[in-house]
Amino acid sequence: MFFEEFIYLDTVGSTNSYLKESCFKNRTIVWTYNQTQGRGRENRAWIDFKDKNLALSILFLENDISNIVWYIATTSLSIIDTLLNYGINNGWIKWPNDVYIQTKKLAGILAESIWNNGKIERLIIGIGININTDKNELLKINKEATSIAIEKNSSVNIEDFTKNFIYNLDKRFNELLITKNIKKIREEWLKHSKIIGKEVEWVQPFEKEKFNGIVKDIDMDGFLILKIGNDLVKVTSGDIILKNID
Ligand code: BTN
Repeated sequence: MFFEEFIYLDTVGSTNSYLKESCFKNRTIVWTYNQTQGRGRENRAWIDFKDKNLALSILFLENDISNIVWYIATTSLSIIDTLLNYGINNGWIKWPNDVYIQTKKLAGILAESIWNNGKIERLIIGIGININTDKNELLKINKEATSIAIEKNSSVNIEDFTKNFIYNLDKRFNELLITKNIKKIREEWLKHSKIIGKEVEWVQPFEKEKFNGIVKDIDMDGFLILKIGNDLVKVTSGDIILKNID
């Protein structure tokens, strides 16, 4: 087993905050089906419906966390693996950290790092997946969203889903951190990411300036290579909006 410690909580404010606030072993995994104050990226709230969503976070205290992008890629691939296990084969990864089904968001990832002396000391990867949420509940989210139950047309056993997901996370993080096969992770990530060759709008993280460009590649550092006008630009963060999803 790749993971060292497994913690299930009946309820918690945020699984990411839980791992941030105390000391745990490297590779601790914590999850709940009742997260009451979930946090999304860019200070957005992440809304959970009791017993309908999975909120799961992983703590990494590895020695040399150099590029968080691969941790996020490995996590999104594990979500895709689980979808495939559930017969859902139209899931795709929206760079850098969402999983969509067509135009609808199914899962989000929040990576948070704590730095010390110029190095990442702790990395927390938090994942929220809509599992048995129905259409009415999802209307309360300010975004087009879907769930496993909606895609399958029937609800699923949330505990079985979690087991399957943890199994896939275990296998994928073994590839990333034990056998160190980043090449494989990158190739599979590219395969499931719809954006290569597509026209996108890139919203810069700080100035919020918008640029239109074509995605040329995701490089070995996990960064997007965008062609904006005649320039090739390396995009390390910010939001990407796909112009057309097919
Ligand atoms: C996003 O799409 O903005 C990221 C959402 C991340 C939500 C997960 S749920 C588990 C973990 N705990 C949190 O408070 N947030 C993340």
